[in-house]
Formats: sequence, C-alpha cells, structure tokens
Amino acid sequence: MEKILVIGAGGQLGTELTRALVNTYGTNAVIATDLQEQVKSKFDYCTFKILNILNKEATASLIKEEKITQVYHLAAMLSANGEKNPILAWDINMSGLLNVLELAREFKLNKIFWPSSIAVFGPDSPKKNTPQNAFKNPTTVYGISKLAGEHWCEYYFNKYGVDVRSLRYPGLIGYKSMAGGGTTDYAVDIFFKAVKEEKYTCFLKADTYLPMMFMDDAVNATLKLMVAPSTNIKIRSSYNLSGMSFSPQEIFECIKLHIPNFTIKYEPDFRQKIAETWPSSINDACAERDWGWKAQFDISKMTSEILTKLPLYIN
Ligand code: SER
Repeated sequence: MEKILVIGAGGQLGTELTRALVNTYGTNAVIATDLQEQVKSKFDYCTFKILNILNKEATASLIKEEKITQVYHLAAMLSANGEKNPILAWDINMSGLLNVLELAREFKLNKIFWPSSIAVFGPDSPKKNTPQNAFKNPTTVYGISKLAGEHWCEYYFNKYGVDVRSLRYPGLIGYKSMAGGGTTDYAVDIFFKAVKEEKYTCFLKADTYLPMMFMDDAVNATLKLMVAPSTNIKIRSSYNLSGMSFSPQEIFECIKLHIPNFTIKYEPDFRQKIAETWPSSINDACAERDWGWKAQFDISKMTSEILTKLPLYIN
C-alpha cells in the first residue's frame, strides 16, 4: 500500500491537494505535515504532524516510522516574500528539496512530487505561449531556486533513479485557502474582497497578463501526473502547465458581471516588477503529449464557480 507524506500541507495548494489525496488513496494512506501548528484544524480528516523540512533527521524518522512510500514536498517561500528575505528563501526552497531528494534515494521511495513555477522564466524568455525549453533567466530568488531545483530533480532521476515528477504551476486560484507571499496572489484576494462587498486595491497594473490556473485543475493535473506510467514521464525537470491567462482588469470585469457594484483601483508595488519578468501565457504541449493533460476551467467558468462556492465557504 502507498503511504503518502505531504510536506507543507497547510499552504494554499496543500490544503486542497491533501484532501484530494485522501479522497483518492484513503485517509490512512496520507499524513499531512506542516511547520505551523495553527493549520492543524484543517486536517480533522487525516493524520497531522508538525514537521520542519529543514530538520532532515526528524523527516527521516517520520518516513521510517510511518513507512512512507511517496512524498509531496510543497513547502516553499514564494516570490514576493522571497524578495524580502532572499537568503532564507534560498535555504527553505533548496535545502528543503535536497533533504527530500536525499531521503528519497536513501529510503528508495516510490515517487516524489515537487512543484516548480512559471517563475523559472525571466525577462529574456518569450512572453507569449512560452515553450517548455524556452531560455530562462529568472530574476527572483524564488525563480532561481525553482530553476536550480528542477536541475536537481533531473539529476536525482538520472543519477539515482529517483522517480521525481514536477509541474511549473501558473498562479493558482482557489477559495478554500488564502495564497501567501506570491505575485499572483491578487487573483485570489480579489474574489474575497468581491464577496465581502469591499473595494479592491490591486498591487499589479490593470493590463498585467499572467498565466493562471483554477485550483481544481492544478489538483487534477498533479494527480494525473503522479499516476502516469513512469515511462510516459519524459521530462524530469518540470512540465510547463497552462490553464488560462488574464489581467487584473479582465478578472475584475468578469467578477463585475456577477457583482455589478464591485470596484477596483490600482496601486502597483514592487510585485509589478516581478510580474513583468514572467510569461503572460504558457505552452503546455509536452504535458498534453506525455500524460494527456488538458485544463477544464477558463476565466468565466472559474469565476462563476468561485462566486457560487466562496460565500458558502466563508459563512
Ligand atoms: N504563484 C507564485 C508566486 O506568485 C508563482 O509560482 O510567487
């Protein structure tokens, strides 16, 4: 039986992915872990433990005691927070991954999942429909750590046969958990403001196009990638993944169709510069070719879904 360890389960992606893993593999097959005790209440449906991934010995003990066979390593510091504390971001993002890869090798784990990001691309990458192998010159510490991490994943696969799989997520948009410390977070925050009937002040310019994805698509892509036969996984760095592409003004107008009184103003901050180095849309033909990926949600389907479910969720 597979036994899955989720590291960083309390974050935006972990909150929804852990639930989906339990639904797929059963409650006894999943152990949710996080650095922060306060997220414990999210996991009344499976085992939850405190774990700091920088503590390799504690992670090794947990893997041994619980007979872990797969790890989903989601703990990371995102782009905007990373720029405020670059050395800490590097340490969390790199040392965390290297600990997981080393333990995967040592304990001969079956599979590892690790998220990469559109942040691996940079100002000299093509902006539109950015291909899998486009030139990459990331300018954020987050992007640098993700690009280095991709190479480490490939290295551990080639050198030690570690079955590590990865996706370059676009900005993820869900309503069950807040985003934290990223540049694409505005696309989550805006929905919370809209349903609370508050004004929204956006930290990016109105016409800043970025690749985005609804959380249900992100979770489905992850599950699909992880069950694909190993021989189908031709890319061991990380797969480009595409959902939709929109600007703050476009998502605002889409929300306004449902909430006509909603208003927005723009006060771009340091995150605008980060956004301008990233692609506006992504080509994910390799994911489609290798393991049959296709996103289900466009901007209007996602907006209707969130505006229907979010009010029930926060009440
Ligand atoms: N959502 C991330 C961020 O904004 C990008 O992967 O940092």
